[in-house]
Amino acid sequence: MLAEREQGFRKMLEKSIVENIKIEHKVILKGQYRTAYDLLKDSLDTGITPCLVGPPGVGKSLLARKVAEDTGRSFHEVFFDENVTPSRLIGSFDPALVVRNGRNISSFEPGPLIRAMVEGGLFVAQELNRATEFCQNSLIAPLEERHYHLFPIGMVKAHENFAFVSTQNPIETAGTYRLSKVLVDRMGSWIRLDYPDKETEMEIIKENTPAFSLPESALNKIYDIVNATRNTASLEIPASPRSGIFLTKLVNKYIERFEDEDAAIRFFAPAVLSKEMRVREEGKTINMIIEEIVTKRLE
Ligand SMILES: Nc1ncnc2c1ncn2[C@@H]1O[C@H](COP(=O)(O)OP(=O)(O)OP(=O)(O)O)[C@@H](O)[C@H]1O
Ligand SMILES: [Mg+2]
Repeated sequence: MLAEREQGFRKMLEKSIVENIKIEHKVILKGQYRTAYDLLKDSLDTGITPCLVGPPGVGKSLLARKVAEDTGRSFHEVFFDENVTPSRLIGSFDPALVVRNGRNISSFEPGPLIRAMVEGGLFVAQELNRATEFCQNSLIAPLEERHYHLFPIGMVKAHENFAFVSTQNPIETAGTYRLSKVLVDRMGSWIRLDYPDKETEMEIIKENTPAFSLPESALNKIYDIVNATRNTASLEIPASPRSGIFLTKLVNKYIERFEDEDAAIRFFAPAVLSKEMRVREEGKTINMIIEEIVTKRLE
């Protein structure tokens, strides 16, 4: 029984393997996104390493993926934290194969950075400021000299299309780590994204909601509620565009169950919006603040 289930799983796993994850919706390239996209592409085509800076959920990863797709580069990414080691990026020798074949190319398991360097892909270092200094320093040679000394195989020279992008949240929301000075100096362009303007954000929400069929009035209310969290001094971390997408997906799918759009928004908003927003104001809970915001916008 167990063996059957295991075999079934392996078959399903095999079917699930894909070459590349493709972007499945339209990418809105208006306003700040147009500028950021052009800057990103121009920097990469000039061999300059850009850093995308912006709060969570504003579209940093999506832009990097879009540029990779549009320029025919494979896409490799690593989410950094203090546990990511240089060998996680570079790769390592498989001990069993080393015993059989020795330390050479056939026993080497490449990591995402070496893969991107060899294939001419785009390597995206997500939240690079959270990496240890040791790990950050291991990136200097690939960035500056476009090579990596892979002992004992030899010097790996990067393909001419190899490109590197880093992303980070603005320092105040990014925890305690910082990008090391040597690395900062090697990043040639700083591309900043913020919360998009109303029209753009509503378009982004629509594009990301399958079978979107809400009236404009409902979308307006959702945007106003999400945006209000960004202008509420008592909330330390406001709602991201991602939260607007989540809320719209729920309201869009289940609106029929409610008396009207207001009731649907009122039902889902607290669950979507009350995640990790730390409250600055004493004596208030997150739910009280969300309730105030929602009530004010649905009057
Ligand atoms: N210009 C855009 N066009 C279409 N969808 C967008 C756009 N910008 C953001 N989105 C959507 O918003 C969501 C968040 O985007 P993304 O994951 O790229 O954010 P991020 O800045 O990388 O966030 P984090 O800092 O949390 O990693 C995604 O569902 C993405 O598809
Ligand atoms: Mg991201």
